[in-house]
Amino acid sequence: MGDKGKKEAAKPRTIPKYMNFIIGGTAGMMGISVVQPADLLKTRMQLLGPAGKNASFVGVAKEIVRKEGILGFYVGLSAALLRQATYGTGRLGCFNAMFDWHKANRGVPNFPTKIAMGVVSGAFGAWIGTPAEVALIRMTADGRLPPEMRRNYTNVFNALIRITREEGITTLWRGAGATVSRAMVVNGAQLGSYSQAREMLLPYMYDGLPLHAAAAMIAGFVTTVASLPVDIVKTRVQNAEKGTSQVQVLRSVIQKEGVFALWSGMWPTYAKIGPMTILTFVFLEQLNKLYLQVTS
Ligand SMILES: *[C@@H]1O[C@H](CO)[C@@H](O)[C@H](O)[C@H]1NC(C)=O
Ligand SMILES: *[C@@H]1O[C@H](CO)[C@@H](O)[C@H](O)[C@H]1NC(C)=O
Repeated sequence: MGDKGKKEAAKPRTIPKYMNFIIGGTAGMMGISVVQPADLLKTRMQLLGPAGKNASFVGVAKEIVRKEGILGFYVGLSAALLRQATYGTGRLGCFNAMFDWHKANRGVPNFPTKIAMGVVSGAFGAWIGTPAEVALIRMTADGRLPPEMRRNYTNVFNALIRITREEGITTLWRGAGATVSRAMVVNGAQLGSYSQAREMLLPYMYDGLPLHAAAAMIAGFVTTVASLPVDIVKTRVQNAEKGTSQVQVLRSVIQKEGVFALWSGMWPTYAKIGPMTILTFVFLEQLNKLYLQVTS
């Protein structure tokens, strides 16, 4: 994502296209491996309800290790990893490949072009990532169903095979329209603002971890602001009477609750999006750097 190989200014070294995809997927998988246990811990604490008032993070963590072992933290991880291996690989690989191509042939893309590249990358990533997403949702919901209703998928591959066999292959892309359009908004905001923020901060900061973390914090915030209205409208439509359109819901929220209601829950959402955004971009940049070092 940018400034690779300063020494050879005349002919900047770029990362091969396929490598962009591998690095993108790896960065996403490394990010989720850190975020997943933290997320599980948070969910468990919320599920404790009032009884958990006194519970500490450490106490709940110890309880999980005692009852379920260390692997208890990684319930559903196979699906989350596969999601990153598909969606993460697709979106980050696609974006960096387009970015490098543009830089080499047309110069550094401007902000609207970066956003457009993010939108296209998001659509591509979401499309190839939808099957893993369907499996992930089903696997994580399984534990909450009554035993006789459970699907008991043993892992994500088992889930994918069984869904194909039992319900047909198109079921794997169920809800893809909504997933793809959300990913277009999220990635236009996230990838576009990350590379823009990175570029604008570069004159003031050394090109290293603090710069990448700062740009990613900005990107996470922009992503939160851009995606919240989409999510709120989506949730409201799901809970509204059948046939209520997104535009009707949007208009009614603005009329009854004011325009800022579209951004309610902003900080909790940022707390969720922020860490994954920062980890993913920091890992991505470090892997890019490592690749250029190893191959130089
Ligand atoms: C929380 O701790 C206080 C003091 O240690 C105790 O009095 C109270 O009963 C505890 N509440 C719960 C829900 O365990
Ligand atoms: C999953 O396991 C439960 C028992 O734990 C059983 O009642 C249920 O029928 C199983 N579901 C399937 C689809 O085999």
